[in-house]
Amino acid sequence: MARINENFLKLKAGYLFPEIGRRVTQFAQQNPEAKIIRLGIGDVTEPLPAAAIAAMHAAVDEMGERATFKGYGPEQGYDFLRNAIAKHDYESRGCDVDADEIFVSDGSKCDTGNILDIFGLDNVVAVTDPVYPVYVDTNVMAGRTGTADDAGRFGGLVYIPVTEENNFVPAIPEQHVDLIYLCYPNNPTGTVATQETLQKWVDYAKAEKAVILYDSAYEAYITTPGIPHSIYEIPRAREVAIEFRSFSKTAGFTGTRCAYTVVPKSLKGSTATGEAVDLHRLWNRRHCTKFNGVPYIIQKGAEAVYSNEGKQQVQNLLSFYLENARLLREGLQSVGITVHGGVDAPYVWLKTPNNLSSWDFFDRLLGKAHLVGTPGSGFGASGEGYFRLSAFNSRANINEAVTRFQQAVR
Ligand code: MLT
Repeated sequence: MARINENFLKLKAGYLFPEIGRRVTQFAQQNPEAKIIRLGIGDVTEPLPAAAIAAMHAAVDEMGERATFKGYGPEQGYDFLRNAIAKHDYESRGCDVDADEIFVSDGSKCDTGNILDIFGLDNVVAVTDPVYPVYVDTNVMAGRTGTADDAGRFGGLVYIPVTEENNFVPAIPEQHVDLIYLCYPNNPTGTVATQETLQKWVDYAKAEKAVILYDSAYEAYITTPGIPHSIYEIPRAREVAIEFRSFSKTAGFTGTRCAYTVVPKSLKGSTATGEAVDLHRLWNRRHCTKFNGVPYIIQKGAEAVYSNEGKQQVQNLLSFYLENARLLREGLQSVGITVHGGVDAPYVWLKTPNNLSSWDFFDRLLGKAHLVGTPGSGFGASGEGYFRLSAFNSRANINEAVTRFQQAVR
């Protein structure tokens, strides 16, 4: 019989969001009259920007003509999209990122997991806690951890708590680590990292010869002036960081699928004998071997979000979801709930009332208000006693959710 990768057996039975989905489906079957509002998984609800739709229609027509038909594209992405990303997302912010350092992909979730292919199993990995579960679970699958303790912390990983107690600022580890996942604006807490905080991490990574895996999938939601949108706004970050970005939450591409990863050519890892190796070369090799590129039609849609009208339409989407976040935040605060995030991010991170556990609050909110959120403990042990609400929904549902939430906690 074929042997399995037993590391999978160390994981909790289900990935967080499908597990929530399972519980909600069960509740819905038992309560068919309940009008459930889902603010759990951060999945966009509003239609794609018109500029992206028009570009994709035109691309479909191109695919229908022999003269303009496309087969396999470049695995790393078409130049038109890589150039647009380099110009609009990096050059415009003074970041030194070349188009050929950008790898277009089908998602940041996939890339943050797949990037582990190019790193050795003996690296010491640090994550903030709470954290986007993909970073932890993919390290468990790869065999970089021991088993989990009762609180869900895996042996071998370095957990850096980010809670109210430290104002959600991750402390620099006192020990050596090789790989550090940072996500800002943060999923799940909705908090941001200042220039000063990121500079400390870049300095630490430089001193320890570590690599920062920087997930900035939510950067477009930053409204506070002076908050970095990219790790490459920090001096010397090109020598220590890989950045992950996505069109999912920015332009509504969660179902359309397009993202990108930046691996600077100046970034090195080392062999066991200490020889420096370009990580760009390794990632390119991995990408070309295991991935055949994002469809041309989708890349044309992504390119269109950088047109003048596309930018305006994206801005409208961002403003819409940020207004939802404000309504949630202020609606919860008005009934005495302590709330974080929701200013520079589409997530609101709240303290559960009466010190309820995260899952108890999940059950109470679902049972009493027919509202779905995400239990903070699902993101890590330090998320216990917190709860996440996503601002991705229609305005009517957000208003209704606020009213129901207020009634449920009164
Ligand atoms: C979330 O709800 O945390 C996100 O939707 C997850 C993701 O982007 O994969």
